[in-house]
Amino acid sequence: MARRKKIYEGKAKILYEGPEPGTIVQYFKDDATAFNAQKKDVIEGKGVLNNRLSEFFMQGLTQIGVPTHFIKRLNMREQLVRQCEIIPLEVIVRNYAAGTMSQRLGIDEGTQLPRPIVEYCYKDDSLGDPLVTEEHIAAFGWASQQDMEDILSLALRVNDFMSGVMMAVGIRLVDFKIEIGRVYDGDFQRLIIADEISPDSCRLWDIETGQKLDKDVFRRDLGSLTDAYTEVAKRLGVMPKTSTPITKPTLIN
Ligand code: C5P
Repeated sequence: MARRKKIYEGKAKILYEGPEPGTIVQYFKDDATAFNAQKKDVIEGKGVLNNRLSEFFMQGLTQIGVPTHFIKRLNMREQLVRQCEIIPLEVIVRNYAAGTMSQRLGIDEGTQLPRPIVEYCYKDDSLGDPLVTEEHIAAFGWASQQDMEDILSLALRVNDFMSGVMMAVGIRLVDFKIEIGRVYDGDFQRLIIADEISPDSCRLWDIETGQKLDKDVFRRDLGSLTDAYTEVAKRLGVMPKTSTPITKPTLIN
């Protein structure tokens, strides 16, 4: 059997060289990390769920004309994606105060924000992904002014889509993080949604009960992460409502 070329291994995913030039195989691991990898665990089934959920969100975005890196799901843990140059920013959109925004500004978690607020963090684990302003981004050349306009528009379109999809199944989209990739088409370049969109990178609260259905379950030791992600997948119809826990691998293929 030929060995695949590993391009990169991150905290939750591994990237392998894809079958065609310009493609990458994205493998979703079961590893969970929080607080810049100070807290770690292996959560059986998480990779399978995130592969499915990210496929669902990326396909939905494609359908409404938001470009993404997603090409197709290959199997339970892998998807084929378009290779792109990742802009070194974490783009965070917040609808309600939570997490670091609540800590930083002293706003109670769950407070509705006057409008969606977009924040940028510089992607560097050794620095703990610090919050930066558009001034830093422009001055250090991480993205151009045109890129920033495109990133803002993409982030808000993802927010509208994700908020609507979640609202329809009784879930509040509190906040989320996306990453943006640059692709080249001949003389042109454009930006697309890359990485993943999953409960690892969103805050999702049940509208009725406020129950957390995202990675805060792991960060804050609130119970079973797999159960929370399975609940999201079931509500979205990504997994049959009657199926037993995801850890039984034959259920999803
Ligand atoms: O931690 P904080 O409150 O800044 O996170 C905001 C949102 O961005 C959360 O949904 C969180 O899951 C996501 N995030 C992420 N990866 C990071 C930092 C934040 O997915 N490195």
